[in-house]
Amino acid sequence: MTPSNHVRIVEVGARDGLQNEKTLLPAEVKIALIDRLSSTGLQTIEATSFVSPKWVPQLADAAEVFRGIRKVPGVSYPVLVPNLQGYARAREVGAGEIAIFTAASEAFNRKNINASIDESIERFLPVMEQARADGVQVRGYVSTVLGCPYQGEVPISDVVRVARRMHELGCHEISLGDTIGVGTPAKARAMLHAVAQEVPMAALAVHFHDTYGQALANILACLEEGVRVVDSSVSGTGGCPYAKGATGNVASEDVVYMLHGMGINTGIDLDLLVATGAWLAAQLHKDTASRVTRARTAMT
Ligand code: HMG
Ligand code: MG
Repeated sequence: MTPSNHVRIVEVGARDGLQNEKTLLPAEVKIALIDRLSSTGLQTIEATSFVSPKWVPQLADAAEVFRGIRKVPGVSYPVLVPNLQGYARAREVGAGEIAIFTAASEAFNRKNINASIDESIERFLPVMEQARADGVQVRGYVSTVLGCPYQGEVPISDVVRVARRMHELGCHEISLGDTIGVGTPAKARAMLHAVAQEVPMAALAVHFHDTYGQALANILACLEEGVRVVDSSVSGTGGCPYAKGATGNVASEDVVYMLHGMGINTGIDLDLLVATGAWLAAQLHKDTASRVTRARTAMT
């Protein structure tokens, strides 16, 4: 494998991870999660999402969470924003970096943000203008890059077109999302290769869900193709509530273990990350755990 020996992990557990969990965690637990993540050496931690609370009730406490987290110098805490209303809410609590999101498939976009691809781009124009004026960095997500739960195949040319458009809009980084985890390594690599003909590789990231256990293999293929930014979610939580069949993101612990094993530096303390993943799993399954404990106690 060629160039740089450093990969930046974009930790999406507090957003992508928690948006699809049945367990509604209290804001203080989300804050504790992000604070723990901040101590692991991660450089980028997606903190929450200022989408409609009717659409994603799990993250309705975005403002409280963002206000409550310890902002460690050198760590960025981007938040998801779907429109100007979300942008205003994010700015009100001091967010300095945002992520906008659309998809390469029309059918998914309709379900996820109630808009066509073109309409979503139109919606982003005033957000981008405001962000530029405020000096706010914007990341762009393109979902369903390797398949759509509603339309099936997604042509690579559509992925390239949407990624190029997001880059032209002014997104500093474009994250290519396999939203339902249907990709396999050769397809992932071919998709990334095609996008990189139009958007510099240095401005690209990959975002794999792990529905069929392909995520690590896909990441490896994309690393070989030259990508150096990888999204992942601590303890493998996650999924989009509007993508039928979407399961967790690739686990950050697994990605970091693989990278370190390959001699690639991430700046992350794997032990601290693993401890954070175990802590989060206990928070998410606390009810079950306490019921089990009660049942065990009752039996003795
Ligand atoms: P809409 O219903 O078409 O919006 O939803 P609207 O503009 O017609 O407004 C309807 C109501 O929502 C109004 O309230 C607005 O004020 C309110 P009402 O008058 O009925 O009381 N509203 C908002 N409230 C708070 N914050 C806002 C906001 N916007 C409108 N920002 C909308 C359109 C985009 C808002 C909605 O569809 C939405 O929030 N969708 C988000 C869905 C989502 O979060 N999906 C998961 C994230 S994407 C993902 O996971 C994929 C990714 O991980 C990459 C990958 O895996 O591929 C990134
Ligand atoms: Mg995702």
